[in-house]
Amino acid sequence: MKIGVLTSGGDAPGMNAAIRAVVRTGLGLGMKVVGIKRGFEGLLAAEIVDMTTRSVSDVINRGGTLLLTARCKEMTTQEGQEKAAGICKILGLDALVIIGGNGSFMGGLMLAKLGVNVFGIPATIDLDVDCTDYAIGFDTAINTGMEAINKIRDTSSSHERCSVVEVMGRNTGHIALWCSLAGGAEEALIPENHSNDESVSEKENFAIDTNRLIREIVENRAMGKTHNLIIVAEGIGGSSKLAREIEKVTGIETRATILGYLQRGGSPSAVDVMHASMMGYQAVKRIAEGERNKIIVYRDGKHTSIDLEEGLAYQRPYDSEFYDVMKALSV
Ligand code: F6P
Repeated sequence: MKIGVLTSGGDAPGMNAAIRAVVRTGLGLGMKVVGIKRGFEGLLAAEIVDMTTRSVSDVINRGGTLLLTARCKEMTTQEGQEKAAGICKILGLDALVIIGGNGSFMGGLMLAKLGVNVFGIPATIDLDVDCTDYAIGFDTAINTGMEAINKIRDTSSSHERCSVVEVMGRNTGHIALWCSLAGGAEEALIPENHSNDESVSEKENFAIDTNRLIREIVENRAMGKTHNLIIVAEGIGGSSKLAREIEKVTGIETRATILGYLQRGGSPSAVDVMHASMMGYQAVKRIAEGERNKIIVYRDGKHTSIDLEEGLAYQRPYDSEFYDVMKALSV
């Protein structure tokens, strides 16, 4: 058998450990393994490298991705998808392993419909692949976020300030929720808590959040709190504007910090290396056993697989427990 592996979309700590697991499991099962550079962009340009056990030496602890990554516009077109499927056939790939998130798996689904056997390994700091309880990179990202928040807390506390910290997460609040709970914040502004009513504009949502927040900050100060910590998810944004508004209304010095790409880098945590190793191993083992078109998922404490199309369609309902606990503990 011959398999290809690529990383696609935003990088995530642990991607290298997943590549290592795919390569070494494949070689161990007697497969030929090729690496495809720069995600789908590299596939379309046939940027292929033969992978040996030594190609993945000393990468288990490295952040980023040794295969490089990209967001590929051409793969969203039918022409691009047909070209990519054609290249997979010319290369003689029995399966293509895609390490990435939803957008990358969507590209993979298009290839699957054109006859390519596609396996997805969820890797995104956002944890927004709903069919799995875990995605590679999340644990490292929230630990990086928590460390940054703890440092901001020190200076915020010394100056008796209010701090607004914006974290990544695209349209979801997973990073914000975990960081707010782990960082002892008083509030997490997340898209999941916004009204589903489309007649409520972003401006109105901002005003609703800001008014509630300011009331709580004033109440907390009256109860003796000397500083305040607010986490804002990227999907809400506007943290600088929010900080200005808090300072204007309350008179409390307020500073905004946007953590940004800091959260995407760094050595993967043990949790991320474990999931990356298990998911990479499971993907290749299942390919060898004849499974087709799957996403490797972590569910109920086990690494298993789910149909690619079914997995992509699955929507996990929002559970407010984390938010409720964070609020209960922040008084
Ligand atoms: O998906 C990971 C992520 O870091 C998101 O949190 C963020 O919205 C996005 O990628 C940023 O993407 P880019 O690297 O293309 O700017």
